[in-house]
Amino acid sequence: MRQRNVKNKKEIINNSRYIILNPSEYKNKWQSVFNNNQPIYIEIGMGKGDFILENAIRYPNINFIGIEKFDSIMALAIKKIDNYELSNLRLIRMDALDIENVFSKEIDKIYLNFSDPWPKDRHAKRRLSSPIFLKKYDNIFKNIPLIEMKTDNRKLFEYSLISFNNNGYIIDDISLDLHKSNYENNIMTEYERKFSSLNNPIYYVKVEKNN
Ligand SMILES: C[S@@+](CC[C@H](N)C(=O)[O-])C[C@H]1O[C@@H](n2cnc3c(N)ncnc32)[C@H](O)[C@@H]1O
Repeated sequence: MRQRNVKNKKEIINNSRYIILNPSEYKNKWQSVFNNNQPIYIEIGMGKGDFILENAIRYPNINFIGIEKFDSIMALAIKKIDNYELSNLRLIRMDALDIENVFSKEIDKIYLNFSDPWPKDRHAKRRLSSPIFLKKYDNIFKNIPLIEMKTDNRKLFEYSLISFNNNGYIIDDISLDLHKSNYENNIMTEYERKFSSLNNPIYYVKVEKNN
């Protein structure tokens, strides 16, 4: 995502009631952060946060955590999210490479929406659906590993399907044109709005592991 520098980004982040500034301290204790036993869904690479915010509003019986690597993007998300009063939402500013230091076996679902495609082969390991990340995710799922992915990038989609398959996932649901499918209750991301307005098909897959 192209970033514009957000003035006072550190201040915005540090003052948000949604941000968890020292997330590794909550490893294995995330239910206590929410003070309930609801399932926890995370979005990795949440961007400006439209998807995670709308989910938290729509599904109060699920806890949501949005993860974003860059301060400026997180600050833009916070400017929007701080206008809401939601007890089932938290945000973490971090690189997902550190995800095993932050969560133990306590996550029920991971969303990967319009992840950076990293088109060059030598950067493949940076893709959030690469085997390196999938192995990390294995260690944070509570029960059955479950990932939902959306993208407009066909090459990333194909790469991810192979990567999921090679890492023991099976396909639960798939669409090569989500907006023309009968998939209900779709919540759009910022990128999804942009690319679907250009008439790009949106690829969607839901995968899980049969333990
Ligand atoms: C192309 S944007 C998509 C944003 C949003 N999910 C959407 O669909 O509109 C990808 C986002 O993932 C974030 N990201 C990329 N790699 C990441 C990583 N390793 N850990 C956390 N966030 C990451 C980027 O900073 C960027 O905000």
